[in-house]
Amino acid sequence: MTKPLRIAVFASGSGSNFQALVDAAKAGKLDVTIGLLVCDKPAAAVVGRAQAAGVPVHTFRPKDYPSREAYEQELLERLREERIELVVLAGYMRIITSVLVEAYWGRMINIHPSLLPSFPGLHAVRQALDHGVKVTGVTVHYVDGGLDSGPIIAQRALAIAPDDTEASLEEKIHRIEHELYPDVVQGIAEGRIRFADNRVIIQPKDGIAQ
Ligand code: GAR
Repeated sequence: MTKPLRIAVFASGSGSNFQALVDAAKAGKLDVTIGLLVCDKPAAAVVGRAQAAGVPVHTFRPKDYPSREAYEQELLERLREERIELVVLAGYMRIITSVLVEAYWGRMINIHPSLLPSFPGLHAVRQALDHGVKVTGVTVHYVDGGLDSGPIIAQRALAIAPDDTEASLEEKIHRIEHELYPDVVQGIAEGRIRFADNRVIIQPKDGIAQ
């Protein structure tokens, strides 16, 4: 690993998690270089956020390619050109194929707005509300090619209030995500969080168990 760690963020929409990573890096709380933003929706708000932050952008339209593997092959070449060491999925709403999973095995992470393995896929916050669960949360995990699946790195739980709506719960979840994701990426940058021998290894920060 180089210092600072070179990461790429993949996003499809608003990009508030991308922004949280940019802000944490600017504030000196995250020791990484965000070397690339990858976005499958050229008109998404996250593209403007990246331009404002001076982060190089790679956009593409999946329908311009014959297969998922074809655009991922192109992405892989770009990631290699940019010497990206960690891929950070932050609201990237596409299935990842073996092209990227194998190249970045143990070096690609995702954040998801539920306590996985509950409620993978789209509209996780709505799914939790519809099921009437009393507790939900946020999960960060390594990516294994399934839908929001792979070895879990960190989870934060959150009680659902009786008057929570999808919007209010989403806002609470975003607040947690914006702290948790930069923390996990920093753990990886420091080498405290690793994927080795097919398992997640976490060394406590400052000797304090988390
Ligand atoms: C986040 O809540 C993230 O957890 C979720 O998309 C949102 C993106 O928000 N990801 C998934 O649902 C992945 N299956 P953002 O664009 O404001 O960062």
